[in-house]
Amino acid sequence: MMLTTIWKGIINSFEKKFSYGDVINHYVIVNELGKGSYGTSYLVRDKKSEQRFVLKRLRPYKRIFNKGQNFIEYEASVLRNISHPAFPSVFSQGVDGKSPYFVMEYKEGKTFETLVFEDKMCFDENKSTKIVLKLIMLVGFIHEKGYVHRDLRLPNIIWNQGELSIIDFGLCARIQSTSHVEVQKQKDYMRERAITSDFYAVGHFYLFLLYSSYHDFDHKEKSWEEELTISSQTRRVLRKLLGIEEPYKGYKEIIKDLCT
Ligand SMILES: Nc1ncnc2c1ncn2[C@@H]1O[C@H](COP(=O)(O)OP(=O)(O)O)[C@@H](O)[C@H]1O
Ligand SMILES: [Mg+2]
Repeated sequence: MMLTTIWKGIINSFEKKFSYGDVINHYVIVNELGKGSYGTSYLVRDKKSEQRFVLKRLRPYKRIFNKGQNFIEYEASVLRNISHPAFPSVFSQGVDGKSPYFVMEYKEGKTFETLVFEDKMCFDENKSTKIVLKLIMLVGFIHEKGYVHRDLRLPNIIWNQGELSIIDFGLCARIQSTSHVEVQKQKDYMRERAITSDFYAVGHFYLFLLYSSYHDFDHKEKSWEEELTISSQTRRVLRKLLGIEEPYKGYKEIIKDLCT
C-alpha cells in the first residue's frame, strides 16, 4: 500500500504535463481544467475548426497500475451510448505516446461548485427546486438508458443561462439493482449501482443549493431539518431522496412530487 503510494508519486512526477500551446493531433492545449483520479481534462482549440473542445487523458499511474482497464475508452463509450444534448458528445479518440485520450464537446457555462463557492450565488427554495427538477429529468434519461451516473456532484453539473449539463461519466455504471437499496445502511451510498445512489446525490445537491441562501450559522451542530426554513413538501422530497424515508422507486415519482 505504502509502496504503491510512493510509486504513484514517482510516476506522477514524470507525467508529461501538457502546457499552453502543445499540440495533440490537431488540438492545441489552452489550459488544464481539472485532475481527477484517472484522468486529466484540458480545454483545447481545434486548429481545423477553431472550435473549443475538452480533451481528457488517462493519467500514467492508472495505465500502469490498472493494466487493461481503459477508463478513457469506457467513458467515451458511455457518452456515445447515452447521447443527449445536455451531455458532452464525443468527437474523437486517440493515443498520445502511451496515454489514451478522448475529445468531447465543451459545455459552456459554470459548474455549480464555482457558482456556489466562488461566485457566492444564492438560490432560494423556488429556484433550487426548479434546478433540481431539470436535473432529475436528465438523471431520468440516464436511468432509462440503463445507467447510474454515481458522481452527481457540484463540479460535475454545469449551468449555462438556465440550461443544465451533466459531465464526468467516468463512474457511470450499468444499473445492477432495480429494487431499492437501503440507503442509510450502505457504506458508500453514492457508489452503489442502483438508481437510489443518484437520488441520494441529487438530495445532497439540493441541500447545497438551499444552503447557499442560508446565512444564520450559529456554530452549533444542527441538522439540515433544524436549520433550513423550507416547505413541508420540499422537506419530504429531501427525506425521500436521502433515504431517511422510504426512497423513491423511480425519477417520475420525484418529478411528480417536485411539481406539486
Ligand atoms: N465537457 C466539458 N465541458 C466543460 N467543462 C468540462 C467538461 N469536462 C470537464 N470539464 C471541466 O473540467 C473539470 C474536470 O473534469 P471531469 O471530467 O469532471 O474530470 P475529473 O472530475 O475526473 O477531474 C470539471 O469539473 C469541469 O470544470
Ligand atoms: Mg469531475
